[in-house]
Amino acid sequence: MKAAIYKGYGAANVVKLADVPIPQPKADQILVRLRASAVTAADSMIRQGVPRIGRLFLGLRGPKVTAMGTQFAGDVVETGADVTSFAQGDRVFGETGLNFGAHAEYVCVDQGGLVAHIPQSMRYEEAAPLCDGPLTDMNFLRNLAKLQPGQHILVNGAAGSLGTAAVQLAKGFGAEVTGVCSARNLAFVTSLGADHVIDYNTTDFSKNVGRYDVIYDTVGKSRFQHAKPALTPDGFYLSPVLSLRLLGRMMFGNCFSRKKAKFSATGMMPVNQQRPLMQDLLGRIAKGQLKMVIDRRFSLDSVAAAHAYVDTGHKRGNVILEIG
Ligand SMILES: NC(=O)c1ccc[n+]([C@@H]2O[C@H](COP(=O)([O-])OP(=O)(O)OC[C@H]3O[C@@H](n4cnc5c(N)ncnc54)[C@H](OP(=O)(O)O)[C@@H]3O)[C@@H](O)[C@H]2O)c1
Repeated sequence: MKAAIYKGYGAANVVKLADVPIPQPKADQILVRLRASAVTAADSMIRQGVPRIGRLFLGLRGPKVTAMGTQFAGDVVETGADVTSFAQGDRVFGETGLNFGAHAEYVCVDQGGLVAHIPQSMRYEEAAPLCDGPLTDMNFLRNLAKLQPGQHILVNGAAGSLGTAAVQLAKGFGAEVTGVCSARNLAFVTSLGADHVIDYNTTDFSKNVGRYDVIYDTVGKSRFQHAKPALTPDGFYLSPVLSLRLLGRMMFGNCFSRKKAKFSATGMMPVNQQRPLMQDLLGRIAKGQLKMVIDRRFSLDSVAAAHAYVDTGHKRGNVILEIG
């Protein structure tokens, strides 16, 4: 089968297409014939081996696992002897985590892993990125912010993968939403349901003193200290992008201030903690509270070009690999 691999950290041109054997499912695994995968900002960072501390897990001198991609959607084509939750022909989506291998024609997944049936109304390309932006947002909005109806949330990076889902999901939580993006995306973010939009090139949101119960910086472009004046007295500053500054703030600053900074690595959470978030997310999708935004589609053969596009840092929603 065709699969994307990389043998060293670097720019998008380290991504190559290789011919590798189709994996064989173990007793508790399913073999999925992939139809779509998402190329995410996290995939780009993993490929580059940044931040460098991540190499402790990925491999110090080069990637220990050369397979690429974590987000997948496809059809179950084979089941291991102990598999009871899935059958041949089921449409499934999920995340492979540190096993990677989702930028390929087939992948084996543990039936107890982060994998679920695709909602009937969804296409493969819409389901493939669900465990990236939307699931991460559920963790941040529900678990970390405990977002309540009527609260005011600012979503920085509102046009990205996490941002486009966060704007819509926060509206579903009943919140008032301000989206921050560049001028070219103002109308687009409004169309997602944002009540207010801010162009980060012309307006500094931190000047809106005491306005936001939650500031969710999905792209890690702001700093807590700078954003703090814009929070309400008990407001939360959340970011899925870890930096030493944010870590230091969480470790030493949170005890002395009612305004708190928070981070979480959603993909590293145990599956039994991610499942309730996924169930909640699927319920919200069924209620029509989330429409997936797809920016560009690439064939598996063009996976390096997909990575190069994600590297621009200006994708709108999700970038999809169409497979098969
Ligand atoms: N901790 C976790 O659990 C977790 C899980 C998943 C992902 N992540 C991380 O979350 C981050 C975001 O991922 P993503 O996929 O949402 O990113 P993305 O889609 O690549 O972000 C692109 C968006 O960022 C916006 N942007 C660029 N510069 C900006 C600025 N200065 N201010 C505001 N917006 C700006 C762009 O909008 P314009 O074109 O309008 O500028 C573009 O739409 C990544 O670092 C990823 O690794 C963390």
